[in-house]
Amino acid sequence: MTRLIFAANWKMHLGPEGARKFMEEFMEAYRPQSDREVWFFPSAVAVETVAIQLRDRSDVRVGVQNVFWEQKGAFTGELSVSMAKEAGVTAALVGHSERRHVFGETDEETSRKVTALLEAGLTPVLCVGEKLEEREAGETISVVKRQLGVLEGLDPEILAGIPIAYEPVWAIGTGRTATPADAAEVHSAIRTWFGGRGADTGSVKILYGGSVKVENVHALVSEPDVDGVLVGGASLDPAQWATIASTSID
Ligand code: PGA
Repeated sequence: MTRLIFAANWKMHLGPEGARKFMEEFMEAYRPQSDREVWFFPSAVAVETVAIQLRDRSDVRVGVQNVFWEQKGAFTGELSVSMAKEAGVTAALVGHSERRHVFGETDEETSRKVTALLEAGLTPVLCVGEKLEEREAGETISVVKRQLGVLEGLDPEILAGIPIAYEPVWAIGTGRTATPADAAEVHSAIRTWFGGRGADTGSVKILYGGSVKVENVHALVSEPDVDGVLVGGASLDPAQWATIASTSID
């Protein structure tokens, strides 16, 4: 069965204690459903706490928000894929717009991170999305395709297992959301891109992100090409996140 993914990106919020309390409240409020998974991307210092709390749950996954591609060494402040794995994570965000636009991460760096994660058997969640000026210039699809280019040359089966999060930069944390139709148009172009590289387009997961909240999530996930959501601000409250993750699908 195709499962929807409801993914929480906590960004620089919730340390180990905050994460522990969050998970206790969330688990009280959320009843597992067979048609979906809930993924958490806590801060690096909180991933192990969350992974331990969730270890008996097959419908929930824990990931990190960023990794470095080297295995170990003198890289102050960085986190290797094997360290993340040891802490119990199975996935990582790669190329989030804040990595790209606040920290200047390039497609080349994003590509090395994807490779390091795949080599270790972890799932990269590749984030793509255009800036406002790019959308206004009609460049949305070409920007997204350029960002997808880091996956070029991968075996189609591996490709099909890499979730994409389409997050228009102008919609992240701004309260502005792409309309479900806007999201669906870009998602469809992403799916076509995967199909052109031999990947099973029915298996590819394409999430939407950018100011997703209780009020708009239903319309977004009801679009056939939207396989889930990546949520920042609205994932920080356990009751609200349980409501979002329980959204009924038409
Ligand atoms: P937002 O963030 O839901 O707060 O807009 C989404 C994201 O950056 O993943």
